[in-house]
Amino acid sequence: MSKARSRSIAVMTGGGDCPGLNAVIRAVTKTAINKYALEVWGIQDGYLGLIENRINRLSYDDVSNILTVGGTILGTSNTADPFKFPVRCLSRGKLAPAHAGVGDKTQVKDVSNNCLQALKQRDIDALVCIGGDGTMASAARLAKKGLPIIGVPKTIDNDLYGTDVTFGFNTAVTTATDAIDKVHTTASSHHRVMIIEVMGRYAGWIALYSGVAGGADLILIPEIPYKLEKVSEYVIGRSRRGKRFSIVVVSEGAREKGCQMVVQKIVATRPDPLRLGGIGNKLAEDINRRTGLDCRAVILGHVQRGGTPTPYDRTLATNFGHTAVELLVRGVKNRMVAVKGGRLCSISLSRVAGKIRKVPRNHELIKAALAIGTSFGV
Ligand code: F6P
Repeated sequence: MSKARSRSIAVMTGGGDCPGLNAVIRAVTKTAINKYALEVWGIQDGYLGLIENRINRLSYDDVSNILTVGGTILGTSNTADPFKFPVRCLSRGKLAPAHAGVGDKTQVKDVSNNCLQALKQRDIDALVCIGGDGTMASAARLAKKGLPIIGVPKTIDNDLYGTDVTFGFNTAVTTATDAIDKVHTTASSHHRVMIIEVMGRYAGWIALYSGVAGGADLILIPEIPYKLEKVSEYVIGRSRRGKRFSIVVVSEGAREKGCQMVVQKIVATRPDPLRLGGIGNKLAEDINRRTGLDCRAVILGHVQRGGTPTPYDRTLATNFGHTAVELLVRGVKNRMVAVKGGRLCSISLSRVAGKIRKVPRNHELIKAALAIGTSFGV
């Protein structure tokens, strides 16, 4: 960070929310104020607030008592991209965001210079961007335009390239495991096949970890397309052995071999237009049709993104937030903080952009699950 400037930083949260965002905001703000007497600004609603110039000062008191609170005090948005922002024309050539619903003819514009201008107006000379792959991809492009940025990896999906773990994942796995435990007893009482659909987009981390932790009989993940006949044989086999119920944990991005993922909706205005969801219900019907067993699906959905962060996520988020400020103060820029082999480190934003981290087929937890008789439907 340039010493000639105001020594002032901004922080923003982008993409879907997850437990631990407030813990990072708190760590960034408290470290910056307490240790380095920096000015701290909070950007409202992710890139949308940056584009629309909604940026407020953050004080020490603003971030007190938020460590355990889910969500983000700054708000977030997963539709705004500063390099592809839909606007509409008003009279005399003025532009309004398309979501305001005024004016006519939507056009997509690069408004990244407006973002840089909004920060410059306030003498903000660096940005901490807390987000997932979409947020990091835009951060890498803003960094190329000269804005010093440190990224902080967030997502319940745990699919960010360049880090072994993201904060939010541990809490989501804890929530999903708790749900699986509860479903277990009703599955057993009614002798049913219970299918629990968890989030995770194109990666099966949440399904794998919560499935193993919850003692699932079958775990279906996007990285291993399943065969319906194998899934059916497995639950029938259990039934014949006197195990009159089965627990199937399925990732929303899982698919039958040779078939497409189940898409709930296509939302063209989002950076990732596919909204996944529905594989749980499809599986319940498919298994019932093939086996005659009574099947029910439970779709966990956004409960996985809510609630108080686990102690693991609180400490990881605090470490990430603190490290982000330390890096900026040392003049390091355009990197994302990360954990590799159990150690805090950082990786270039440009290396992270545009990639996701999937579950390797030879992952140690897959091996352990297979060894204890869990099926992946193949
Ligand atoms: O990336 C986090 C996540 O919760 C995914 O697991 C899920 O597919 C997606 O976000 C849901 O997004 P939305 O809240 O926009 O429907």
